[in-house]
Amino acid sequence: MALKLNPLTLQSQKFPSFGFPNVANARSSRVFMASTLRSSSSKEVENVKKPFTPPREVHVQVTHSMPPQKIEIFKSLEDWADNNILIHLKPVEKCWQPQDFLPDPASDGFYDEVKELRERSKEIPDDYFVCLVGDMITEEALPTYQTMLNTLDGVRDETGASPTSWAVWTRAWTAEENRHGDLLNKYLYLSGRVDMRQIEKTIQYLIGSGMDPRTENNPYLGFIYTSFQERATFISHGNTARHAKEHGDLKLAQICGIIAADERRHETAYTKIVEKLFEIDPDGTVLAFADMMKKKISMPAHLMYDGKDDNLFEHFSSVAQRLGVYTAKDYADILEFLVGKWNVEKITGLSAEGRKAQEYVCGLTPRIRRLEERAMAKKVKQNRNVPFSWIFDREVLL
Ligand SMILES: [Fe+2]
Ligand SMILES: [Fe+2]
Repeated sequence: MALKLNPLTLQSQKFPSFGFPNVANARSSRVFMASTLRSSSSKEVENVKKPFTPPREVHVQVTHSMPPQKIEIFKSLEDWADNNILIHLKPVEKCWQPQDFLPDPASDGFYDEVKELRERSKEIPDDYFVCLVGDMITEEALPTYQTMLNTLDGVRDETGASPTSWAVWTRAWTAEENRHGDLLNKYLYLSGRVDMRQIEKTIQYLIGSGMDPRTENNPYLGFIYTSFQERATFISHGNTARHAKEHGDLKLAQICGIIAADERRHETAYTKIVEKLFEIDPDGTVLAFADMMKKKISMPAHLMYDGKDDNLFEHFSSVAQRLGVYTAKDYADILEFLVGKWNVEKITGLSAEGRKAQEYVCGLTPRIRRLEERAMAKKVKQNRNVPFSWIFDREVLL
């Protein structure tokens, strides 16, 4: 999703996404610098770069930052998760499916329904489609997010069909999420308004690049990240629903709205996990929250590339910001919401370090809001148009 406040600039580098010659060796060390991975000669890097390479930024890679004894916390929460988290999943038979909101290809009315869909979509401006495509591409990189969840110590799906509550959640969550990209993809395909091949390339690049959420195999960080993200996607899909309605496409509004409702349910589950962690381990959890916020919550599709635009994600984010689909204000609002939801201000009995983290997190929202105001003032002077390959290189105002 869009975000101007998540720059991966700190210690970041342009880096070929498939050029990780030393990753296997580095796996055992807790910390290694991204720059040390650039061991191949510049010519080799050039060659690797040709077939695939999106512009790739990575940070210092920290792994397994949760002390191993804390894995027990997650094991002991198995039954709790069964009773409190899995209830937020919907049985498949009660779930909506993409087909419920799309023309039925087996019906005689299919062509008419497609025609109507295309007529409605004609009323929608290009900048809206840029946001919807960006949201769809973000959803379509789902393999990356399941991978990310399965990097987390103590909760990962150890076999691919593990019966633990954590693994059941991750698989069922993925299965629910899978409908989001599917539905948006099919709608966009039928609309005829977008360059599907360019979009498909962007998805392939993005899944190939992965993501760098800096959650360090640490479920404390991981669930804070997912709490934030589910709320971010709830807001973003909610806004594309509202805008579709304003453009007169009630069916598209319904599509975005139904996806937003799923995100909300997922947000409830993830925020409950973190709430529980605050109850069991307030010090560890507030430190994790502060750590995640210091690093800034990067958006899942931050490594987006279409083979053409080196700044595609920033451009998409700018359009989403201008249209109010997902903004820096939303980022601050989410933080404020989570601080309130987890009652961070009221936690007592913290260590000195914990109190410092608490103070940092509780004072962060107004600081972000001030930064946002400054960024907005600066942006007014820089308004410009940029072509998006997703809409046949037509230009859109950032
Ligand atoms: Fe989603
Ligand atoms: Fe989601």
